[in-house]
Amino acid sequence: MDLFDRLLTEFHASLAKVRNLQDLEAVRTQFLSRKGLLAESRKGFSFQTASPDERKEFGASFNDAKAAMEEAIEKRKGDLERTERRSQIREVDITLPGERPARGSLHPLTIVQSFIEDIFASLGFRVAEGFEIENDYYNFIALNIPEDHPAREMQDTFWLDNGMILRTHTSACQVRMMEQVKPPFRFIFPGRCFRYETIDASHENTFYQLEGLMVDRNVTVAHLIAVMKGLLSRVFGRDVMVRLRPGYFPFVEPGFELDIQCLICGGPGCSTCKHSGWVELLPCGMVHPNVLRFGGIDPDEWTGFAFGLGLTRLVMMRYGISDIRVLNSGDLRVMKQFAPSL
Ligand code: DAH
Repeated sequence: MDLFDRLLTEFHASLAKVRNLQDLEAVRTQFLSRKGLLAESRKGFSFQTASPDERKEFGASFNDAKAAMEEAIEKRKGDLERTERRSQIREVDITLPGERPARGSLHPLTIVQSFIEDIFASLGFRVAEGFEIENDYYNFIALNIPEDHPAREMQDTFWLDNGMILRTHTSACQVRMMEQVKPPFRFIFPGRCFRYETIDASHENTFYQLEGLMVDRNVTVAHLIAVMKGLLSRVFGRDVMVRLRPGYFPFVEPGFELDIQCLICGGPGCSTCKHSGWVELLPCGMVHPNVLRFGGIDPDEWTGFAFGLGLTRLVMMRYGISDIRVLNSGDLRVMKQFAPSL
């Protein structure tokens, strides 16, 4: 069947000239489409006059030629696609800066917490954590807050079905630690606390505190003040005036509210300090002898101070955040504004 041999020779000659996928498609149309050269070849063959054998042979040759062309086209197509992909890779400009992987940012609470941890570490404090799910004993009783004590009402508590509670303050870490280590010791306990509060711009049911506890021989209020002043001057980057007012907390005696002179107006009074010139920041005091006893520590030999820094509050002051709800919102538009790393 010279006809098909000729056609195939022609076909391979055209295929050899193909340089890209468009060329290839043109060759395919030329030979294999419904009105292509292969289909046309049937016109030169008279089916009426041919014998059954001749018809069969023609059909077989036709199909062979068609299959051979299709196969050759598929193969060439694969080759072309491969080289095309390779040439695309070669076109990458390796002198361009790479794409940076997306990088998260730290929550402002994390930033402030690490900063404060570093300050206390330099003062010889160790960092520890207690439990967010606590029992009544460590959260209240061991802190000199027996059942029926009115102080329990100061802290609206989430009670769990099993009788445990969500800790209302990091003070719950105090006696747990006293049971584990012998004095002298210094610890801070940063952590999440929970209270059954109605949420608004200044109240959250979930917030962070940073508890401090130092127990040693002859620890006095002077040590407490020195550590607090040192802390605050480093947090705010300048010397701050502090004052102590008496404050009542069952687990300290005497107990204080430590105020700082308002950093906005510097003393004369403004709306931030409610025109008093002072901002309440740090409740603290000398550890109550009963609490030391609950922790197995002899109050005649050891004394200590404790404080409960409102970490969430400090973050809000530090960054001028006026709505506490922003901090727990998980809103990336807010979080992205903070440093990507320490
Ligand atoms: N635990 C108290 C609270 O959450 C704060 C506090 C007050 C902690 C006085 C202390 C302290 O360690 O001495 O309201």
